Amino acid sequence: MNANEQWLLSPPRTDAAWLAAHWMPFTGNREFKASPRLIVGGQGAYYSTHDGRRVFDGLSGLWCSGLGHGLPEIAEAIGRQAAALDYSPAFQFGHPLSFELANLIVERMPAGLNRVFFTDSGSEAADTALKIARAYWRARGQAGKTRLVGRAKGYHGVNYGGVSVGGMVANRKTFGQGIEADHLPHTQPPAGSFHRGMPPAAGAHGTALADELLALIQLHDASNIAAVIVEPFSGSAGVVIPPVGYLQRLREICTQHDILLIFDEVITGFGRAAAWTGAEAFGVTPDILTFAKQVTNGVQPLGGVVVRQDIHDLFMDQGGPDYMLEFPHGYTYSAHPVACAAGITAMKLLARENAVQRVHELAPHFEAAVHGLKGARHITDIRNYGLAAGFTIDARPGEPARRPYEIGMAMYRKGFYVRYGGDTIQLAPPFISTTAEIDRLVAALGETLQETA
Ligand SMILES: Cc1ncc(COP(=O)(O)O)c(C=O)c1O
Repeated sequence: MNANEQWLLSPPRTDAAWLAAHWMPFTGNREFKASPRLIVGGQGAYYSTHDGRRVFDGLSGLWCSGLGHGLPEIAEAIGRQAAALDYSPAFQFGHPLSFELANLIVERMPAGLNRVFFTDSGSEAADTALKIARAYWRARGQAGKTRLVGRAKGYHGVNYGGVSVGGMVANRKTFGQGIEADHLPHTQPPAGSFHRGMPPAAGAHGTALADELLALIQLHDASNIAAVIVEPFSGSAGVVIPPVGYLQRLREICTQHDILLIFDEVITGFGRAAAWTGAEAFGVTPDILTFAKQVTNGVQPLGGVVVRQDIHDLFMDQGGPDYMLEFPHGYTYSAHPVACAAGITAMKLLARENAVQRVHELAPHFEAAVHGLKGARHITDIRNYGLAAGFTIDARPGEPARRPYEIGMAMYRKGFYVRYGGDTIQLAPPFISTTAEIDRLVAALGETLQETA
């Protein structure tokens, strides 16, 4: 009997009084507590649920568990680390694992990005990147360069910096004044485009969209703009892929106007885009890059920011006496030793399992499968890249989010976990998925769409 089966012998409590104490994140709490979905185990590409069912993990957790669940190597590494050194102060003292992990991460980064600052999550990584950008210009004697530019439909987590540059209205509208930010237009093609991979450069969906940055430069002047932050492809907004030439053009404009380019690679980092990074997949190197999620295969909370060496070195050069802090920022759990143990093991397993190659090989099958749903009931668009796909679902009048929710729940009842968000359904199966599993996932989605009112 394994640990999961043990759990199932004494089912966890699901009564409303018990569940009330936990105010759950990004969840319809009232709905969930009326009809709980507790996940009690995970092995490979499958979860097991409190009601004894096996569910295919169609989103790799939350885009983070590409290698699948229950990996003994990671479990053993974190157990060993917790026994040997469970915590050490993150400030003014170090432990060996953070340096090993930083080197493993740098090996997987585009050339030139080679200094790693650790955080505990993607949201913290995004805010850290924005702070580095502002502090960098100040250290260079250009303290007026503070404005930040994000993009409509962008998601950079939930802290104030990330929400301010983010472009998802549902995450912004409730929280009042954030930090000043401008937004580029999103790059999602009109419904009905059904582009496979990158949309073509022609028309409004080529470099013209990146040229919108020139309008913001004209408005504010580059002397006031610190950085542009974008996801190489947007995940949370429903998988929005950049048109051909778009990221290259953003890079050109940023370089010409001395604006830092930040790629938020919290989803695209470490395999999802069929490359180590989205930067590598799309052939564009930013100045600053964030990561989280897949870095530990989701087993421990860990994120971070990788910067160009000269950006890092400027902080060192301007840091004053060498006992002084060069960058007054960090978290109690930055580079937590147990999280680093998970990260080191995950980095080695991604290499040993040839994860990038596997995603590369699976991606054409996945693309053909998901686009096979073109014409299915309720589907108005399909987008994909690597092992990520987004489906736009036509809205019931006044309730754009209801049908995706109903589809998500029906899929769960059938034994498939998928993400529903806004007017989209999102898929990001584990890198270890088989083609048969992908086919079953997509077939179940097709059937569910047909059955949904
Ligand atoms: C691109 C991007 N940035 C930041 C975040 C926030 O990460 P976290 O939820 O770990 O704070 C996410 C999460 O989905 C993300 O997709």
